[in-house]
Amino acid sequence: MANNTSTVSDTETVLRTENLNVYYGKFLALQNIWLDIPRHQVTAFIGPSGCGKSTLLRCYNRLNDLIESFRAEGKIFFDDKNLYAPDIDAVEVRRRIGMVFQRPNPFPKSIYDNITFGAKINGYKGDLNELVESSLRKAALWDEVKDKLKQSGSSLSGGQQQRLCIARAIAVQPEIILMDEPCSALDPISTLRVEELIHELKEQYTIVIVTHNMQQAARVSDKTAFFNVRTSDTGIRSGYMVEYDATEVIFNNPKQEDTRDYVSGKFG
Ligand SMILES: Nc1ncnc2c1ncn2[C@@H]1O[C@H](COP(=O)(O)OP(=O)(O)O)[C@@H](O)[C@H]1O
Ligand SMILES: [Mg+2]
Repeated sequence: MANNTSTVSDTETVLRTENLNVYYGKFLALQNIWLDIPRHQVTAFIGPSGCGKSTLLRCYNRLNDLIESFRAEGKIFFDDKNLYAPDIDAVEVRRRIGMVFQRPNPFPKSIYDNITFGAKINGYKGDLNELVESSLRKAALWDEVKDKLKQSGSSLSGGQQQRLCIARAIAVQPEIILMDEPCSALDPISTLRVEELIHELKEQYTIVIVTHNMQQAARVSDKTAFFNVRTSDTGIRSGYMVEYDATEVIFNNPKQEDTRDYVSGKFG
C-alpha cells in the first residue's frame, strides 16, 4: 500500500560496490562503479571486450592483488565488511568467493583429488568421500564420473571439465561463485548443461557471470549490468557501467540507447 515503507526484501545485497575506480599503473581501467549484487540471484555482466568485466570480477575475490600494477579506489563491501580493509585475509576471501574461468582448468590430478585439494588445504574435518559426492552432485557431474573418480580430471570432456571446476569451487563451501565466460570454450549442449546448473546453484549460492552470449545472459540471469568503454577528453579509454537493472528490463526496455544497441547486436 504505502510505497514509502521499505519492506525486508528477498534481494538483500551481498556485494556492494561504491565509487570504485580501478587502475593498472596509470591506466584507469574501470571508472566510478556503483553496483549492488543481490544474494542468491544470478547477475550477468555484459559489454564489449576491454570494458573491464573481468577486472571487476577479480576485484570481488581479491584476485587482482596478484597483479602488481593493480590499484583500486573506492569500496567493495562483502556482507557489510570492506573487502579491502587491512585486516581482511585475501585467501579466506577467495575461499568464500570462488571463481570459475573461461578455460576449464582442472588440476593435473584425479577427479577425486581435484575436489578434495582445496578442502584439505582449508583443514576440512568432514568425510572426504561425502564431500566429493555432494560437490559432484551439486555440479551435476556425479552420475557421469562416479565410477572413475581416480581418473585424471583432464581425461573428461571440456563440458565435464568445466563442471568439475564448478564442483571444485563448491567443495570449499563458498557463498559466491564468480564465473568469467564459463561457457565460451564449450559446445552448445555442454553450455546448456552449465546454464541449467547455474539455475540450480542460485538456490544456495550467489552467482556473478560474465558472458558474451546475449541469449545466455537473458536465459540465466536475474539482473544484468551493461558495461562499455568511453574515451575521455584526454584520450583515455576507460570502462564504465552504462546501465544495471532486472535482466528483462535490460533486454526489453533499457533506459539507455547504448544498451538497446548492444543487446540488439548493433555493436560489440
Ligand atoms: N593485468 C593487466 N595489466 C594491465 N592492463 C590490464 C590487465 N588486465 C586487464 N587490463 C586492461 O584493462 C582493461 C579491461 O580489461 P578486462 O577487465 O580484461 O576487460 P573485459 O573482461 O571486459 O574484456 C583493458 O583495457 C585491458 O587491456
Ligand atoms: Mg574478460
